[in-house]
Amino acid sequence: MKNSIIWAAALFMTLSARAQTTSAMSDTDQKVDSLLSLMTLEEKIGQMNQYNGFWNVTGPAPQDGDAADKYEDLKQGRVGSMLNVRGVEEVRKVQKIAVEESRLGIPLIIGFDVIHGYKTVSPIPLAEAASWNLEAIERSAQVAAAEAAASGINWTFAPMVDISRDARWGRVMEGAGEDSYLGSQIARARVRGFQGSDLSDPLTVAACAKHFAAYGFAIAGKDYNTVDIGTATLYNEILPPFQAAKEEGVRTFMNAFNDLNGIPATGNTFLQRDILKGDWQFEGFVVSDWGSINEMIPHGYARDGKDAAYKAVTAGSDMDMESYHYLNHLPALVKEGKVDEALIDDAVRRILKVKFELGLFDDPYRYCDPEREKEVIGSEEHQQAVLDMAKKSIVLLKNENKLLPLKKEGLDIALIGPLAADKTSPLGSWRIAADDETAISVLEGLQQYADNELTHEQGVKLVEGQPSFTMETRINTTDRTGIEEAVAMARDKDVVIMVLGEHGFQSGEGRSRTSLDLPGLQQELLEAVYEVNKNIVLVLMNGRPLAIEWADENIPAIVEAWHLGTQSGNAIAQVLYGDHNPNGKLPMTFPKSVGQVPIYYNYKNTGRPEIPAPDLVFWSHYIDESNEPLYPFGYGLSYTDFEYSNLKTSGATMARDGALNVTATLTNSGDVAGTETVQLYIRDLTGSRTRPVKELKKFSQHMLQPGESVTVSFELTEEDLKFYTANNTWEAEAGDFKVFVGGSSDKLLETEFTLSE
Ligand code: NOJ
Repeated sequence: MKNSIIWAAALFMTLSARAQTTSAMSDTDQKVDSLLSLMTLEEKIGQMNQYNGFWNVTGPAPQDGDAADKYEDLKQGRVGSMLNVRGVEEVRKVQKIAVEESRLGIPLIIGFDVIHGYKTVSPIPLAEAASWNLEAIERSAQVAAAEAAASGINWTFAPMVDISRDARWGRVMEGAGEDSYLGSQIARARVRGFQGSDLSDPLTVAACAKHFAAYGFAIAGKDYNTVDIGTATLYNEILPPFQAAKEEGVRTFMNAFNDLNGIPATGNTFLQRDILKGDWQFEGFVVSDWGSINEMIPHGYARDGKDAAYKAVTAGSDMDMESYHYLNHLPALVKEGKVDEALIDDAVRRILKVKFELGLFDDPYRYCDPEREKEVIGSEEHQQAVLDMAKKSIVLLKNENKLLPLKKEGLDIALIGPLAADKTSPLGSWRIAADDETAISVLEGLQQYADNELTHEQGVKLVEGQPSFTMETRINTTDRTGIEEAVAMARDKDVVIMVLGEHGFQSGEGRSRTSLDLPGLQQELLEAVYEVNKNIVLVLMNGRPLAIEWADENIPAIVEAWHLGTQSGNAIAQVLYGDHNPNGKLPMTFPKSVGQVPIYYNYKNTGRPEIPAPDLVFWSHYIDESNEPLYPFGYGLSYTDFEYSNLKTSGATMARDGALNVTATLTNSGDVAGTETVQLYIRDLTGSRTRPVKELKKFSQHMLQPGESVTVSFELTEEDLKFYTANNTWEAEAGDFKVFVGGSSDKLLETEFTLSE
């Protein structure tokens, strides 16, 4: 620790000298400034450099090659952060080099993609969003943070708060769906869960709102593709969840791979300096995405590495993830007077501040306690939390003749599908720290919760032997040998449960699809089984909305079970057997066919919304597909029935400084207890810019016993009516509004009110 002592002493002297003049500065700011004053230009730039884990630290230090260079960089204070180093032992070793072998001993911040759990895996974020349950989502992020922090990590690259309306984009699994209001509430919950109330608590981590901005609007849903959108979409749809995360205190942002209207997000001054650090006064730091500073060269925006470093730092990217251009080019750029050292100081201040807040200067090994690591990871409490989250994430899409829930005894059940016994797919994409084969499969779950006869066949075989992190699908596209056996087995069964969908790595980064059908031979399998037994419960496992129109028309019961994480099979079994009454609601529209995509509930009316006369084609529609989705945003059934009545407002007019109370009666008219998510939408009928046909503004959840009613009440204020107007400001415009309340975006009671001048 000798070097830390040197700067600590200097720090104390500087602090004492300044004590009286800097009372307005926070204690942390003063410490940061004192440390900064001791740093050489190279050391400052080092803080802005992030390396991937580069050698097996349990072995001897690397002697040559790239790893040896990086090891030396660590000793020379040329590395501020590392990612993908995990486990107390590994983290301690890299931290030790930074703290004990570098001149100033500045600790590293250790980043990792803790997206939906660490070892104990939660449902994928899109699935969690289907719960609309902010407490459960916060708890899930808390569990993920605790396990990651116990493993030496102190910074997660989550939450991804990108709004997306395109199910072809593989990363929809990582977000909260298509709606900006729901996305904002969930962004806040996740930031609270990861960061807690004290960043220095060794069971919390710094969060990172990503990808700033508009990554989810890649043209044609193709990952990393160009984004070309108007400012109204940017402000109204894309930015709100980022701003919500900022307001919730998120400590870092990550920029994005895409270009936005011609300027790569990583080199985008408008996004990072004007909006984020300017308008929003964000005081944390911005990390680039992996190599995204370098990617400005192929984008055609930077000439070479030096130009890329110049453009990124000027635009407000504070830390370079794996491009090395800051390390290699910023010293010269400053010495040549092209980059003002004040920009470097600003970036380094931001980075050091987060390190101070994490408590790394008090104890650089505070996240490295091997006892805590053993105790926290995989604890029973965490298993229960992810099970609870998984149950709440399930959406019942169809349940004809109350086929579900199933009886717990006396049934002879066929369980069919490539994913039925799979213990890896349910973990989903982005769960790097979890081990393969650690999820409870549906087969295992069903065996636990009932005494029925259960026979299992894959039907379509999973391709064996491929590494799971591959571009290829593991769901067979050619081998039909299992289909006949499955059909024969299903013929005489009381019920067939079919577990179909996407393999765990068929969604996620780089996994864009042009089809939203059931992959491989699964549709063929489904239809073949249906020929012999129509009593089918289809359990879907997938990371994005699928186009399952045939199934919706023919299969009596459909359960959307996403990729639900470690406790997947238990959650699904509890729902199928009625131990848990499902209450999830879709956070993203399911299309009838891929050609409808992007399809979303808050579309604009257009000038030709309706058929003008029978057989006339000149209106906004397709000639070969309806405009309706298969399942709309906000949709989801229950084992009970809910009825809505009595929608009222407290007045016909809302004053600008006043509020409007909106009430409706919700009744459980079915015969079991259940929870309903009540949704409130508005429509601004005329605006200085055209407004969507519906916009979600509020929601709340209510658990009701059979026959029970409750008056659900929401308060609307001027704030809820604001949007990015033609004046390019965020304001509410006087005029007429509709307000809707109900249990799905397509089935709502409605009334009106007026916002006065
Ligand atoms: C690239 C991804 O876009 C980003 O979300 C992730 O955090 C980084 N890689 C680091 O793994």
